[in-house]
Amino acid sequence: MAKMSERVKEIFQKQHDVVLATASKEGIPNVVVVGAKKIIDDETILISDQYFDKTLANMKENPRAAVTVWEKTEGYQIKGMVSIETSGPRFEETMRWIEDLGKKFNVHLKSKGAVILKITDIYTISPGDSAGQKIA
Ligand SMILES: Cc1cc2nc3c(=O)[nH]c(=O)nc-3n(C[C@H](O)[C@H](O)[C@H](O)COP(=O)(O)O)c2cc1C
Repeated sequence: MAKMSERVKEIFQKQHDVVLATASKEGIPNVVVVGAKKIIDDETILISDQYFDKTLANMKENPRAAVTVWEKTEGYQIKGMVSIETSGPRFEETMRWIEDLGKKFNVHLKSKGAVILKITDIYTISPGDSAGQKIA
């Protein structure tokens, strides 16, 4: 497992929407934008699935996923393994969170699952000599 630094967590939290990449078992890539995301702990991210289609299909057949976050020219790739929870306390809490979020914007939002990303590697993507290097 790899731990997010305070700075990586700060950028993750500040960024309204982050980029989530998955791949099918044949290696066909897919990239989406997600806004319903939170940090569980230094090694774990939670993303709520409201609309995942190819993303969900990919995660079911290939648990490897990557999230990219950035602020100005400072960015990170957060890579890991996902599991999908559709019952239990974490899912129920996610359902309440998403329902409340919908109410705030006067739209109906429903979580279908809590995607738990256990972080295995973190790389910097900031332009410069260390771009692409593993930092955790
Ligand atoms: C700004 C923005 C935020 C989004 N946030 C979420 C989200 O938090 N959860 C979700 O399930 N889909 C979210 N979506 C929808 C996905 O990006 C995407 O449309 C959906 O997963 C279907 O694409 P797929 O077939 O590649 O999975 C968001 C889309 C946009 C444009």
